[in-house]
Amino acid sequence: MSVHVQNSRMTTTRLRKMKQAGEKIAMLTSYDFTLTTLLDEAGIDMILVGDSASNIVCGNAYTLPITVDEMIFLARGVVRAAKHCLVVLDMPFGSYQVSEEDAVRNAIRMMKESGADAVKLEGGEEILPAIRHMVQAGVPVMGHLGLTPQSVNQLGGYGLRGKEDAEADKLIHDAKLLDEAGCFAIVLEKIPAALAERVTKAVSCPTIGIGAGNMTDGQVLVLHDMLGLNMGFKPKFLRHFAQLGEAVKGAVGEYIEAVKQSTFPNQEEAY
Ligand code: KIV
Repeated sequence: MSVHVQNSRMTTTRLRKMKQAGEKIAMLTSYDFTLTTLLDEAGIDMILVGDSASNIVCGNAYTLPITVDEMIFLARGVVRAAKHCLVVLDMPFGSYQVSEEDAVRNAIRMMKESGADAVKLEGGEEILPAIRHMVQAGVPVMGHLGLTPQSVNQLGGYGLRGKEDAEADKLIHDAKLLDEAGCFAIVLEKIPAALAERVTKAVSCPTIGIGAGNMTDGQVLVLHDMLGLNMGFKPKFLRHFAQLGEAVKGAVGEYIEAVKQSTFPNQEEAY
């Protein structure tokens, strides 16, 4: 029987059992009530209110500008719609790097004010003290290694990470530290599939890959990317599961035409 029983809420404990049972975990980002309702009804295991909202929702070039208040605002709508899946809220740049106290205070505030089940933050050994304090305070923490977009200015771009032995070894070391510190799961972004497999075998918590091959315990994609809404973006790891960008443009074009031609609304659509 599936560890993911429909009609009951997903928990971090159940995610760990899914890893042990070899049952894959499906995660997507979401940033609003309406789409989250659909994702939840479709049976998604986990939703990430990602700081990719900075790009997708706010139109920024990077994830860095989005604020704690903006993340809380978006997460509230998602949480209201999520009846079964676990909701993870991304901690934005600057909300956990200053001090451990600051990290715990922001994490608790984000959970209390949004109702999210857990938080996610980017980085390895350098943020370990913050993660330990957060876990001790009762905050479920998801880690994020490999390509960490909040560090784009240090990394010098969005290229593949962990290609060289030294970086791959550090990534495995960091993953073990996050696992031991009590992270309930770790996102692995844009690293070689073989490295993601090694990490997945080295840690007890589930790994969730994006651009990391199919040997991780689960997968995550940015919703607007996989639905084909973010039309110009097509990296190698991304599959378009729908072409909604084309569908939306087509529908809006038909609407404009109907308004201009006065064929909308017709008699049945009028009071
Ligand atoms: O913010 C985000 O959408 C993410 C995913 C790419 C994992 O962190």
